Amino acid sequence: MKVLLIGGGGREHALALKLAQSPRLTQLYIAPGNTGTAQVGTNVPIPETDHQGLIAFAKEHHIDLTFVGPEGPLVAGIVDAFQKENLVIIGPNRKAAMVEGSKKWTKELMKKYGIPTAAYGDFTELNPALAYIEAQNTYPIVIKADGLAAGKGVTIAQSYSEAKEALENCFIHQQFAEAGSTVVIEAFLQGEEATLLAFSDGTTVIPMVSAQDHKAVFDSDKGPNTGGMGAYSPAPIVTPEVEKLAYEQVLKPMIDGMKRDGIPFKGILYAGLMIHNNTPYVVEFNARFGDPETQIILPRLETDLLAIFEAIHTETLHTLTLEWSPYQTVCVVLASEGYPGNFEKHKPITGTEFFNNKADIQLVHAGTTPGPNNTILSNGGRVLGVVAWDKELKIAIEKAYQGVHAIHFENKYFRTDIAQKALRKNTE
Ligand code: AMP
Ligand code: GLY
Repeated sequence: MKVLLIGGGGREHALALKLAQSPRLTQLYIAPGNTGTAQVGTNVPIPETDHQGLIAFAKEHHIDLTFVGPEGPLVAGIVDAFQKENLVIIGPNRKAAMVEGSKKWTKELMKKYGIPTAAYGDFTELNPALAYIEAQNTYPIVIKADGLAAGKGVTIAQSYSEAKEALENCFIHQQFAEAGSTVVIEAFLQGEEATLLAFSDGTTVIPMVSAQDHKAVFDSDKGPNTGGMGAYSPAPIVTPEVEKLAYEQVLKPMIDGMKRDGIPFKGILYAGLMIHNNTPYVVEFNARFGDPETQIILPRLETDLLAIFEAIHTETLHTLTLEWSPYQTVCVVLASEGYPGNFEKHKPITGTEFFNNKADIQLVHAGTTPGPNNTILSNGGRVLGVVAWDKELKIAIEKAYQGVHAIHFENKYFRTDIAQKALRKNTE
């Protein structure tokens, strides 16, 4: 099969590495890809926003199946555009991708389907929103821009004045443009977060193994939030009991309800959960694989990923039983010092040969770019992810940090405590 993978981050490099293991794969193209994906397949310089360009490429190169990594093209309707041309593409259509594209719409669905989540109100004007916050009079309170905001649309307000500022940023300063013209105000959920991803063909939903990411930039979960400084799988907080509840009370009712309402969700459903007293509550849904969760989940997948994608397309997921390795996986992100604020780019990266021919450690590229004479340069906030696995978490962590220390570039920054939280929980 000839496959086109859309996207160019760490998630897409991890997807490319897994797809390359498929005996069904004959050729892999990645648009636009990155320095890592170029080592696995052929990068194609078409941006993910250029749907017509991607369609033309898929036709010209007789692509059998296209997979969409990031949310942007999904929410913008790339699946509908490909399907109109009778091209096979895996991902939710524009309507179903609203689980990520509109928080208000998704809260309404959750309410309708009885899915546990925080109480909320939704607003399109400042004054009623302020009145709601005054009436709640409980802090922290969570203010969310309705639409896509590149992970920056959520404020956990500790006081009335912080909440007011967040609302003014949306309604008056139009910080998120149209995405912030509607705002969801939510009760703050206590507990510990975990990610549960699932494959769905619109009828059947199969959860993947659990994961947890480290969002804060500094050790001990301090400092501002980032796209993720590391992650691990499984997440000990997702016990078999929690997983069962998450399937019965979150994933299954969501997929069943959307099918009933004529908006079947075909693709990857991402449930961001808050787990409190062994009960999962939905913090958010996304319409795609997580980043960096994909980097630690896919190495554990033993079933052919391309066979799963085909089963999503043909709506035959119920015929598959997914196999997962018992390995514990850890990903440590190597970032540019200063991220998520200002940072310098284009620093030469050395030491990547450490990862050659190793079976239990992988280097995943995110923000890298080719330099002169076959060199690789840093080109983003999150530059690389070191992914390692072992039957024992402690050893997986040690291996990952060996990889971290083998890589060198000026201004390299990483957290030193990735997965320690899981290690503590395992020994409790
Ligand atoms: P979201 O984009 O909705 O996932 O929100 C981003 C982050 O804000 C989440 O990963 C949580 O850490 C936090 N968050 C969002 N909603 C809530 C909530 N209702 N209670 C507590 N934390 C939340
Ligand atoms: N790791 C969070 C996300 O992918 O949304």
